Parts: sequence; structure tokens; C-alpha cells
Amino acid sequence: MFKPIRKAVFPVGGLGTRFLPATKAMPKEMLPVVDKPLIEYAVDEAKAAGIEEFIFVTGRGKAAIEDHFDLSLELEAQMLDKGKNREAVISHSAFKPGQVAFTRQQQALGLGHAVWCARNLVGNEPFAVLLADDLIKSHVPCLAQMSNHYQNVGGNIIAVEEVSPEHTDRYGIIEPGNWDRNLVEVEGIIEKPSPEVAPSNIAVIGRYILLPEVFDFLDSQTVGIGGEIQLTDSLSSMVGTFPFHGFRFDGQRFDCGDKVGFQEANIAFSLDRSDMKEPMRELIGKYSSERNA
Ligand code: G1P
Repeated sequence: MFKPIRKAVFPVGGLGTRFLPATKAMPKEMLPVVDKPLIEYAVDEAKAAGIEEFIFVTGRGKAAIEDHFDLSLELEAQMLDKGKNREAVISHSAFKPGQVAFTRQQQALGLGHAVWCARNLVGNEPFAVLLADDLIKSHVPCLAQMSNHYQNVGGNIIAVEEVSPEHTDRYGIIEPGNWDRNLVEVEGIIEKPSPEVAPSNIAVIGRYILLPEVFDFLDSQTVGIGGEIQLTDSLSSMVGTFPFHGFRFDGQRFDCGDKVGFQEANIAFSLDRSDMKEPMRELIGKYSSERNA
């Protein structure tokens, strides 16, 4: 039996330049899929995995995230006046006082640096990292699937999926060892390798369960590919010393850091909604037949 995963880190300091101008004054994590911001999907996933403490690593221009997870007494009062169901309208107000912490990454120096900024809040226990850009639709939330496996194997566990071989330079890529059903031993990991040097096409997706020892490696602040302090580089230093598995999750991942992936997520999630399914199907039919005409 390993320690339960109680804390989750949400790195939300990134600039979101791919979605400009939408993200000029609004954090990219607040972009909505249907009617819920991306970050709230990640928080809900963490809650479903039993996470008790939520640590946001923010940056300049990210105040909307903090406000979003605060109570909005005025909005709630208005909703109640109008006879609306408070829970349905303001689902995110469910944090208890003291359950949320915000810390700042003063400079956007990379994902490894963002996670390192949370070291004092995480302390000496295993923890989860969730990247809101990777939205995962599944019956059992992805992080819950991972923490179930963590109870058997311990160590670092990272979500993985196969990607097109020509896209290895967009992801952390693992060198896979033996598979045991959906768990694979990680024998190496490298950040954004070109297809010619990639050890496989098995990519890291933005869900991690990490041992606190990762902070010892992040402490070195080594700059990696793209001039950024990469989480992958510290994870690479842990291979062979700590238990380390990739986990092929059940579910579909949408790359919401990409415009097409983001639109696909909106289509998929709206088709899942009983109030939107039919009109969405009609619209999709309309636009596909217009295109074919
Ligand atoms: C980050 C990680 C990368 C991982 C990816 C998943 O990259 O550095 O290893 O594969 O998230 O989304 P980013 O997308 O921030 O460039």
C-alpha cells in the first residue's frame, strides 16, 4: 500500500500565444469547452480521483482563474432570485476554505520550473500534475485510473498514448520496456525528439503521478530543449532509480492547446450533452453537406 495521492499541481502560467488574440487578456485555461473552462475539467478530474489539495502555479494575467474558483455571492444571489439551481450554474464553488493554493511562477521558464515552484506546497509526498490543455473524455476519469494503478506499483506514473511518428517533436516520448496490460516500464524519456531520433511513438500526455524526489532533480534548474526547464529532463534522471511506468489510459484525449483539437473537443463534448446533441447533429450534417455540395 502506497501513500494516497492527496495533492495536485496545475501549471497554469503559460502564455497561450497559439490562441491569440483570444488569450491576450484572458488565460488560455479559461477557454470554454461547451460552457465550462478547460481548467475546471482538470479540477473536476482531480476531485474525482480523491485529490484534497489543489495547487495552481499561475503567472501574470491569470487572476481570472483565481476568481473563477472563488465564491461569487452576487452571482449566486441573482441565480437564486431567478429560481435557478445554484449547483448547476456554479459548480466550481465547491472548494472548501484552505483547499486551494495559488503560487506564482514569476517567469515562464518551462513546465519543469512551474512544477518546481510548487515544491514547498507539495512537501514530501507523491502528487499529481494535470495539464489543462490535455482534455480527456473517459468513463473513469484518467487520474483516477492512474491512482488505482499507483496503489499497486508506486513510483512515477505518466499517462501515455501512441501518436503519429511524424509528431514526436510535439511531446515527451518514452523508450518503452515491458508491457503488463496497460502499464509499460519506462526505460528512457526524452522531450520533443525529432522523428529520426525518437525512441518510439509513445507520447507523454499531461497527467503525471510523481514522487517528491523529482524536486531534487528539478532543483538543478537545467535548461533543456527550447531553452526551457523541462519536467521531462528531471524525469529522465529518475529512470532506473525509481519505479517508473507509462500508463495507457482508457479514454479519448483532445489536444486543446491546438485550435483544431480544441474545436474537436467542443464538438465531442456537446454531442454528449442531452440538451445539445440533436441540434449539434443537425448542424454538423448541414455543414458537411454544404462542404460536399
Ligand atoms: C508538455 C510536456 C511534454 C508532454 C506534453 C503533453 O509539453 O513537456 O512532455 O508530452 O506537455 O501535452 P507542452 O505541450 O507544454 O509543450
